[in-house]
Amino acid sequence: MARIFSGIQPTGIATLGNYLGAIRNWVALQDSDDECVFCLVDLHAITVFQDPAALREQTRQMAAVLLACGIDPARSILFHQSAVSAHARLAWIFNCVSRIGWLNRMTQFKDKAGKDREAVSTGLYVYPNLMAADIHAYHATKVPVGDDQLQHLELANDIAEKFNHDFSTAFFPRIEPLVLKESARVMSLRDGAKKMSKSDPSDQSRINLTDGADMIAAKIRRAKTDPEPLPEHVHDLSERPEARNLIGIYAAITGQKPHEVLHHFAGSGFGPFKEKLADALIAHLEPIGAKTREYLADPTSLDHILQAGARRAAAIAEPIVVEAERLVGFLPRG
Ligand code: TYM
Repeated sequence: MARIFSGIQPTGIATLGNYLGAIRNWVALQDSDDECVFCLVDLHAITVFQDPAALREQTRQMAAVLLACGIDPARSILFHQSAVSAHARLAWIFNCVSRIGWLNRMTQFKDKAGKDREAVSTGLYVYPNLMAADIHAYHATKVPVGDDQLQHLELANDIAEKFNHDFSTAFFPRIEPLVLKESARVMSLRDGAKKMSKSDPSDQSRINLTDGADMIAAKIRRAKTDPEPLPEHVHDLSERPEARNLIGIYAAITGQKPHEVLHHFAGSGFGPFKEKLADALIAHLEPIGAKTREYLADPTSLDHILQAGARRAAAIAEPIVVEAERLVGFLPRG
């Protein structure tokens, strides 16, 4: 039995990108023999300023969405990162193992910091070290993510290798990303070159998992396309990022391959295709939105689910991080 770990930032409502790229994979992995640990990464969230009341609200909201998508707290461990101190303790050790040159190569930091590199928080810079600690604190070996996280996972392996080398140990195992090929990168509805993101200023660029039917239909109707009819072959989509994205979404949500979708819609304009796409999304997402609202109606129960998850998470992570602290040379805590 292996252990699976993954995380999501509670910084907004989960998008269709989060769902198709990661969450639906988390749900499916619960049926494997592996132990699943899923984390609402509030320590990561505050690397960019968050209004405290909004952060509390959004952490509960993300918990509700994950439960509504099918994360089952009886089979998986679901918790908020700040409730398990092992994450921050191992992250500090990794801050001292990781190299500035390695962090300087992180494309996500460059994207998020933009031109204002001097003004962002130091937390944003060392974010990938914390992410490595999240995974290694559980000796997790499988990490289901979308492909924007792959560079961070490579860094997590580099950090573990250097730790093992520096302290003459084989304590931290290698980790393996689990990426769903077809939907590893769902793109913005307004710009096929940008990924769909909870933090995009335009709400029209994304489908939120809690959007109602009318909203979903309107966003898909307005989604950017091109004037050509849909082609017969997948390779004819290579220069048409918006069309490719919408076909990919339709394929993922209906459980088909892109070539099967094109087989059905080849020669058609975007109008009729968009109608079918909106119908499929509404059928899939409406029950998730309804269940999310049910969970959110009882915030105390949500808090209890996360707190129980945190106790189970700490029972795994604590001895692993205590051993890392011993390897580094810290005296026992007593
Ligand atoms: P976050 O919160 O940005 O996204 C959560 C998951 O959703 C995936 N994802 C996407 N997949 C396909 N298309 C998209 N447009 C899209 N947008 C997001 C992400 O790849 C991710 O799997 N750093 C992480 C959180 C994290 C983590 C971890 C993940 C912290 N510690 C340890 C794995 C293991 C993040 O910001 O994810």
